[in-house]
Amino acid sequence: MVRAPADAFGGRRGPMAVIAVTKERRAGETRVAATPETVKKLVAAGFEVVVETGAGAGASMADADYEAAGARIAKTAKDAAGKADVLFKVRSPEADEIAALKSGAFVAALLNPYNEKPTVQALAKAGVSAFAMEFIPRITRAQVMDALSSQANLAGYRAVIEAAEAYGRALPMMMTPAGTIAPAKVFIMGVGVAGLQAIATARRLGAVVTATDVRPATKEQVESLGAKFVAVEDEEFRQAETSGGYAKEMSAEYQKKQAELIGGHIAKQDIVITTALIPGRPAPKLVTADQVASMKSGSVLVDLAVEQGGNVEGARLGEVATTANGVKIMGVPNLPARISADSSSLYARNLLAFAGLFLTKEGAFAPDLEDEILKAALVTHGGAVVNPSLNA
Ligand code: NAI
Repeated sequence: MVRAPADAFGGRRGPMAVIAVTKERRAGETRVAATPETVKKLVAAGFEVVVETGAGAGASMADADYEAAGARIAKTAKDAAGKADVLFKVRSPEADEIAALKSGAFVAALLNPYNEKPTVQALAKAGVSAFAMEFIPRITRAQVMDALSSQANLAGYRAVIEAAEAYGRALPMMMTPAGTIAPAKVFIMGVGVAGLQAIATARRLGAVVTATDVRPATKEQVESLGAKFVAVEDEEFRQAETSGGYAKEMSAEYQKKQAELIGGHIAKQDIVITTALIPGRPAPKLVTADQVASMKSGSVLVDLAVEQGGNVEGARLGEVATTANGVKIMGVPNLPARISADSSSLYARNLLAFAGLFLTKEGAFAPDLEDEILKAALVTHGGAVVNPSLNA
């Protein structure tokens, strides 16, 4: 069935399905799943929107702005979730939110389904149809809904800012009467969406940038951003991409060869940013303790994969570890939450576009679960966990 795109929302009136937006409750989670801008468009599309009081506070969005955009403000999460036909969240709903939901309600959130299986089970048990935004397929029609990309892009930017802040030197070369400051050497490991933005940001700040990845397609992307590509380019490397565009887990032999090549390179770097992930698997270990020990005092590593087990040996979630040789390993969780106004705006737009799939061409609320995108993202339905990748 052909669906109208999100920007064709204006003016059509559907039946009053209620979208609820509750305040995120995880420690450090400052994002919000709707903004006054998206609320206005959801209301224009015929949805009724209920926002829990204070939901936007962490992203500098006030209740009054949501109200002006047409939302009703609910006093508690329970009030908001209890009315929902659809609950929009950034992170998976908490137990009390799930308890408040009607059986048959929809949820759309970054459910982190591989790592938060008990929540997925609870959603199934509650009879909720939950969509994991992570599972939206990377097809052209779904680009506007691609929350992994919208958030990873900002995480990549923010990682460089965090590194620059922790690094006791400048990133660009500076020629001054008192002498010249050398540019920082920045190495990006893993060149997906986050890595590409990290390269671009470090380049804008004037660093000398190199990068590595196991997917051959990244070589050209790295070079087009003015950085140098460093990797073992053997036969395994040439085959190392799935049809979905993701990395495969590499063999022990490849990892050893790659580690040798990378080892000498890391010793010369001032800043290393790691972003390597393999969907559904622990993050690959890319930087050993010995390699960290080979770096100069004052060097900084930022491990974006720290929540999936980390790419850097010695990285600890939520901590900055300083090694005996004076190297900082930053295990900052949830970098998008450190740029919450922008990350919320983009995520909210991803959800706005996603909500467009819930409406028929005539504007009626009737999610078609056979739609390619909804089907791929659906993880629970009819009391069961239905996504094949979670039942394997
Ligand atoms: P990701 O977050 O799953 O992984 C980050 C990066 O780590 C990837 O580039 C991966 O190849 C790399 N990696 C994994 N193991 C590694 C190792 N041992 N050493 C070095 N690097 C390693 O990736 P992300 O950002 O989600 O992108 C995955 C793919 O999806 C890319 O091809 C990207 O271009 C594509 N994509 C397509 C979109 C679309 O067509 N709509 C939108 C966004 C991304």
